[in-house]
Amino acid sequence: MLKRSIVLGTGSYLPERVVSNDELAERLETSHEWIVTRTGIRQRHIAANSEMTSDLALIAAKRALEEAGVAASEVDMLLLATTTPDQTFPATATKVQGQLGMTNGAAFDIQAVCSGFVYGLAVADSFIKSGQAETIVLIGAETFSRILDWKDRGTCVLFGDGAGAIVLSAVENSEDTMQTGGPRDNRGRGVLSTHIHSNGNTNELLYVDGGPSSTQTVGQVRMNGREVFRYAVNNLANIVYEAMEFNNLVVDDIDWLVPHQANKRILDSTAKKLGLSTDKVIVTLDRHANTSAASIPLALDEAVKDGRVKSGDLVLLEAMGGGLTWGAGLIRW
Ligand code: ACO
Repeated sequence: MLKRSIVLGTGSYLPERVVSNDELAERLETSHEWIVTRTGIRQRHIAANSEMTSDLALIAAKRALEEAGVAASEVDMLLLATTTPDQTFPATATKVQGQLGMTNGAAFDIQAVCSGFVYGLAVADSFIKSGQAETIVLIGAETFSRILDWKDRGTCVLFGDGAGAIVLSAVENSEDTMQTGGPRDNRGRGVLSTHIHSNGNTNELLYVDGGPSSTQTVGQVRMNGREVFRYAVNNLANIVYEAMEFNNLVVDDIDWLVPHQANKRILDSTAKKLGLSTDKVIVTLDRHANTSAASIPLALDEAVKDGRVKSGDLVLLEAMGGGLTWGAGLIRW
């Protein structure tokens, strides 16, 4: 019997410290007006010196498990999408696994930069569909502030820190009362499909200029903003069409688009290209900035908690990030 993944709960965490555009303008040649006009970002949360990615991830995971009504002992897989692990190894996911008190199953990190959460969803859904996992905690968590060049105004104003998590559980297709057909039936609740891509010829558009095997330093983010912008709008529109076509749906069927939060102009241009009303796009970018792998689960948790995303809604997650990597996941909530 084929299984599918349903979302049982969501949770998130943002560090306490909020840094406004004006505060950045005190130490950089920039302005609130420039940042808002070019990006839509008004502020970002920055982790305290004592807070690591695992600390943010742990709180988000605990909140998601609590909402799901699932004990850590029932979880058999923990996936953490991050570009800013606590250490080169062990995987930060294993630290969170230990701190959660989860003793069985497996935990590992996923590295696809800003696409990490949709890559994680694809991995989680595959493990559930193949019967290798029953209950998965999927987290996106970042302390991106640690890899920024705070003197480079072209990048440091764009990012923030945070974490979000979801709990996925396996159901038999026949157990789901909304489910009427086979695994391609788009009326059934749960993850309908995931789609991931990468293009390794575009590494140089967005990268970190360090690493254990190259410079033995952590390195800092470097980006060709204009080129990334151009790729983002095309790749993101294409991935939405791919997900729709696969499920015999059209863009109009989408109730909520939960995009990776990189730039308001990317969100607006993608929605325009797709002919999707901006009212259907969940936006947290103004308050969170770009939190890389954490941005989608942070936005999703907000939209679930405030009642916008309801049972039966068709929710599309999409992202693009360094690599370049990009992907989407379609969920009937
Ligand atoms: N404040 C003031 N001026 C700035 C700032 C700043 N923070 N940053 C750049 N400028 C200046 C530049 O120096 C340049 O000045 P010049 O004309 O005198 O040389 C001018 O503004 C224009 O610079 P551009 O880079 O051409 O500005 P653009 O309109 O492209 O905006 C931005 C830059 C916001 C980075 C944009 O390209 C962008 O958002 N790209 C997408 C990148 C992105 O979101 N990456 C995130 C990771 S990937 C992802 O998540 C999809």
